Amino acid sequence: MQALPKLDAVEFRKVLGTGTTKPCVFQCEDSSGKPAGEYATKLRGGVRSNEIGLQYEFIAWHLAEYFNVPHLPAALITIEEELTSTIQDREVREHVKKSIGLNFGTEFRAGFNTWVADDTIPLSLQKTAAEIVAFDAVIENVDRKRDKPNLLFKGDELLVLDHELAFSFIQTVGLNLNNWNSKRLEFLSHHAFQRGLKGKALDLTDFVSTLRGLSNKMITGICDAVPPEFGAVSAKIPAHLKAIRENATTVMDIIREIFK
Ligand SMILES: Nc1ncnc2c1ncn2[C@@H]1O[C@H](COP(=O)(O)OP(=O)(O)OP(=O)(O)O)[C@@H](O)[C@H]1O
Ligand SMILES: [Mg+2]
Repeated sequence: MQALPKLDAVEFRKVLGTGTTKPCVFQCEDSSGKPAGEYATKLRGGVRSNEIGLQYEFIAWHLAEYFNVPHLPAALITIEEELTSTIQDREVREHVKKSIGLNFGTEFRAGFNTWVADDTIPLSLQKTAAEIVAFDAVIENVDRKRDKPNLLFKGDELLVLDHELAFSFIQTVGLNLNNWNSKRLEFLSHHAFQRGLKGKALDLTDFVSTLRGLSNKMITGICDAVPPEFGAVSAKIPAHLKAIRENATTVMDIIREIFK
């Protein structure tokens, strides 16, 4: 498993997005002071339950790596108090001040557009799109919707981002993790790819075998790698990942039914 690089934010560039978390782009450098590029940084002061949203970003990133779902290179970004005094805008400065310490960043890619939910999915991307849907089932990500695709797009490249609202089952009281039915995956009927994939035969064969191969060792490795600064990992996360692996065929059948 790949360890994420640790970088320092050294210069504020801009605020991103229209949502509540207001990620910021920072110029970063490595521990030897070498420039490391710009990172879109999800701030601990902006995400759900402070660091827990960052924990979900971290775990989802490693699962995207495992499942080969296209995603951005990521890094752990340290913000120091000193940096905040260089930010002119008072509101942004206060926002960044609440995020001193460790944060989660993805390499900033200019020139990408947000995927438009009504767009036709090019044939060359249909398998990737189906796998992204299946990935969202695995991480129970309710936040890749028609109005908030959280997908970057350029030419024939699609990239997933924004997983701080994944693992939504954690909020459900009394959920039987082994009970898979269409209600459990109902959120996928609002998925950003719902229109584009509707009526298509979803090619999930490779995804299912990768899911079946998700070892307990891999699950433990990812959970154990979560930096303590991102909070303790709920035992429900590894339990869910094991349960979805054991029910892989049922889950994929439910997905196919939703996109029928
Ligand atoms: N690494 C990146 N490179 C380029 N653009 C990015 C990157 N990370 C985020 N963005 C852009 O910033 C937007 C906001 O980021 P993100 O989705 O993580 O936060 P958010 O609070 O959910 O905002 P929104 O509600 O606007 O989606 C994304 O929708 C995307 O357009
Ligand atoms: Mg978003």
